[in-house]
Amino acid sequence: MEQYIIRGGNPLVGEVEISGAKNAALGILAAAIMTDDTVLIENLPDVRDINVLLEAMESIGVKVERLTRHAVLMNSEHVGEVSVEYEYIKKIRASYYLIGALLGKYKKAEVPLPGGCNIGSRPIDLHLKGFKALGAKVSIRNGFIIAEAENLHGSHIFLDTVSVGATINIMMAASMAEGYTIIENCAREPHVVDVANFLNSMGANIKGAGTDVIRIRGVQKLHKTEYSIIPDQIEAGTFMFAAAATKGDVMVKNVIPKHLEATTAKLLEIGCEVEEFDNAVRVVASKRLHSTNVKTLPYPGYPTDMQPQIGVTLALAEGTSIVTESIFENRFKYMDELARMGAVVRVEGNTAIITGVDKLSGARVSAPDLRAGAALVIAALAAEGVTTIDDIIYIQRGYECFEEKLRSLGAEIEKVNSEKEAQKFRLRIC
Ligand code: UD1
Repeated sequence: MEQYIIRGGNPLVGEVEISGAKNAALGILAAAIMTDDTVLIENLPDVRDINVLLEAMESIGVKVERLTRHAVLMNSEHVGEVSVEYEYIKKIRASYYLIGALLGKYKKAEVPLPGGCNIGSRPIDLHLKGFKALGAKVSIRNGFIIAEAENLHGSHIFLDTVSVGATINIMMAASMAEGYTIIENCAREPHVVDVANFLNSMGANIKGAGTDVIRIRGVQKLHKTEYSIIPDQIEAGTFMFAAAATKGDVMVKNVIPKHLEATTAKLLEIGCEVEEFDNAVRVVASKRLHSTNVKTLPYPGYPTDMQPQIGVTLALAEGTSIVTESIFENRFKYMDELARMGAVVRVEGNTAIITGVDKLSGARVSAPDLRAGAALVIAALAAEGVTTIDDIIYIQRGYECFEEKLRSLGAEIEKVNSEKEAQKFRLRIC
């Protein structure tokens, strides 16, 4: 089982290049199935979730040709199956995007019901409500969601909760429905816009992505395209907080600063300097940071995927901070791990009360999920001494070359696969 061993204490300094957005890529890859033409997708992040989705797509007949580490050609002309295996959906929830894509194109999809997830229960009732409104019959049999329709037709859909997944999934299916669809109370995340732009580049007619009302005029056919995925705002934000927590100075390159506004605002509030460029942001933390309050909200609010990263940073900031998680109910599991590193934290329901300490100290901890895992890496980089992080498979789901990028900024971090390798690294650094 792979682990990270980290010796903390070095301020991160230098430049780091951000990869393509995982969450945009998941939607875009699924949407690529909706044309028989060959599609070129660039700036694809080389992370586990993406590679698993590509495998799932190959398993139903999509031809995937990797041109480079970050570019693929996909052809879905010979998709013979509309049924995806549980093995894939178990590994990556977002393969539920294949329901919207397959239903739109083939008017039929069979995808296993995604199970629970370690950040909370994650229902997909709104996705299904949308498909039904478009005229699909949706049933659940033997653990599969089966969605089928003679014909999909446009509809007026109101989402009860702002949901990224439901917005993207319904938008995909509606792109190839007959007539006009209006989706209200949509998610406005940059990756919703990116998937809409991708579909439009294939000939879809989607307007309003990025606002809370999306209007879609269905088309019969989608065609080939060449598309480059937007930069990952969560990866970027993670490096911004790593700079802050280690009192570093990092230029985070290949980003869209507008997508980072909520993160930037919080960094400024706690005492960092943040300089914005056309496609980069520089974060400098030259003095001790101070406390703040933060509540996670749908975009453009503060992202839930950035909650653990600010949480660990506030554990070292002067004063008491309150972090409120309003999207997922189980996203504070990392707090127990952080407490093992000396943080003073108390979790009450969806609120964490964090009293900043002068120092964290290295400990053995485990990553409870993707973003919390990355946050524990930040804590370890800022802590005194050596930290071992277990279960880093979660982190590998969404961060490309995480340890290499951190090392290039001066971090002492090693991925090890055995106790022998761990000992060797410990001897080298101690
Ligand atoms: C996406 C992101 C995830 C991020 C989340 C919130 C991807 C692949 N994942 O997840 O990283 O943390 O957005 O920004 O893009 N809900 C319902 N019914 C539904 C769907 C959602 O009640 O049918 C609720 C959820 O329980 C949650 C809220 O809506 O409380 C938002 O979830 P949603 O935006 O759908 O998250 P995901 O798309 O799963």
